Amino acid sequence: MPARAAKTKTQFVCQSCGHVEARWVGRCSSCEAWNSFVEEAQTAGPRGADTGPVQAAPFALASVDSAEAERRTATGVGELDRVLGGGLVSGGVILLGGDPGIGKSTIALQMLSGITAAGAHALYVCGEESPAQVRRRAVRLGVDAEGIHVLAAADTDSIRKAIKDLNPAVAVIDSVQTVYSRAVASAPGSVSQVREAGAELVTAAREHDVTLVLIGHVTKEGFLAGPRVLEHLVDTVLYFEGDQNHAYRVLRAIKNRFGPANEIGVFEMLADGLAEVSNPSEVFVAGRREAVAGSAVTCAMEGSRPVMVEIQALVTPGSPGSARRTTLGVDHGRVAMLAAVMEKRLGLSMISHDIFVNTAGGVKISDPGTDLAVMAALASSYRDRALPPSTALLGEIGLTGEVRAVSQVRARAKECARLGFTRIVLPRGSLEQAPKTKGVDLAAVDSVSEAWDLLSAG
Ligand code: TYD
Ligand code: MG
Repeated sequence: MPARAAKTKTQFVCQSCGHVEARWVGRCSSCEAWNSFVEEAQTAGPRGADTGPVQAAPFALASVDSAEAERRTATGVGELDRVLGGGLVSGGVILLGGDPGIGKSTIALQMLSGITAAGAHALYVCGEESPAQVRRRAVRLGVDAEGIHVLAAADTDSIRKAIKDLNPAVAVIDSVQTVYSRAVASAPGSVSQVREAGAELVTAAREHDVTLVLIGHVTKEGFLAGPRVLEHLVDTVLYFEGDQNHAYRVLRAIKNRFGPANEIGVFEMLADGLAEVSNPSEVFVAGRREAVAGSAVTCAMEGSRPVMVEIQALVTPGSPGSARRTTLGVDHGRVAMLAAVMEKRLGLSMISHDIFVNTAGGVKISDPGTDLAVMAALASSYRDRALPPSTALLGEIGLTGEVRAVSQVRARAKECARLGFTRIVLPRGSLEQAPKTKGVDLAAVDSVSEAWDLLSAG
């Protein structure tokens, strides 16, 4: 721990949520993160007191021009526009988070390329890389850098001045962890700095009607440094997900004041940048081998979009008491719950088996409507019997083994049929709403045991 400076007063700030303690503590009482406290210099005066335009008099809400708030610019990257809800909003602030190396700088540059191609100016503040590195990436992406101005500075005063002088349509800060405000003594990347520098830049963006994109890294624990302090400040939080070892990347809107939240965009990382994947279902189930044990297909709702996903499971004998549960793309706790339900309702001895569950391609799914497919993949691997061909499974599983209705069954069933699945196993509660398509057999089930009997019968 750093020694206390003799003169400057310090405090301990949780790097996850910004909670302040006078002394170092191991666990944050506010967000319960472990080991998240760092000693920082205290800031003088109320934060942001001297920033922001003075709001003088109140005025009638009805007198506000609603078209004003919605001036959008399409970025030219279709999947990004879809996630944003139609394009960038001027004066809007976007936080773009993700693991290092996932493609944040790449998508930012591709977005600027689209914006500047229409004649607009853009500012790219590179705090992490040299302008030469940014230029090399632009060349590699085939981005015509005309109209993109780089600024190799990390202090908010320089950035604000550049925004004022250049008056760009979009300003990208890559990354927010490298910028600092002179008003705060803490190191760049600390919560106090991220909060203060972020607030100053947001104010500047709103003042000059510039779309601000703040790029932020994710820490080991899976949080943006100071996520909560920035999340409430921005209009849109986008999160770039994906597995480094897979080419597919999913851009997800966690929060969006200007559009639907939880909408996704799908990209593939190629040698010349991120390519849009407008037909994710085809891609995610492509190359799938039918008639192998441990594979099941489902349709997950990601925002407004139905996406077909292949679930792969491997169940092998392990030692009871220390059996492993490893998952990629599927929630770990959910798989443990499903295994317990299978133990109880299907009589399979899951407790003495190691369990591995993946989504093919590493796509992350959090939709409980995919439970039945996860269970079917597990049971199929356990019994070493492939599921019947051309079968897709929909359904959420409850603790008593009941198969519950899923949301938006129409969209899901249509997507299954579109991709050539001829049998859909679905909850009885969803049967009525499911569209009847010629050549597609709808098999309704109430419980996991009924579903498993049906699947075993072939
Ligand atoms: P980058 O955008 O630098 O990631 P981030 O800003 O999120 O840290 O992209 C990093 C990875 O993408 C890097 O490992 C190289 C790879 N990449 C490609 O495969 N093709 C490309 O055209 C580019 C620019 C990067
Ligand atoms: Mg980067």
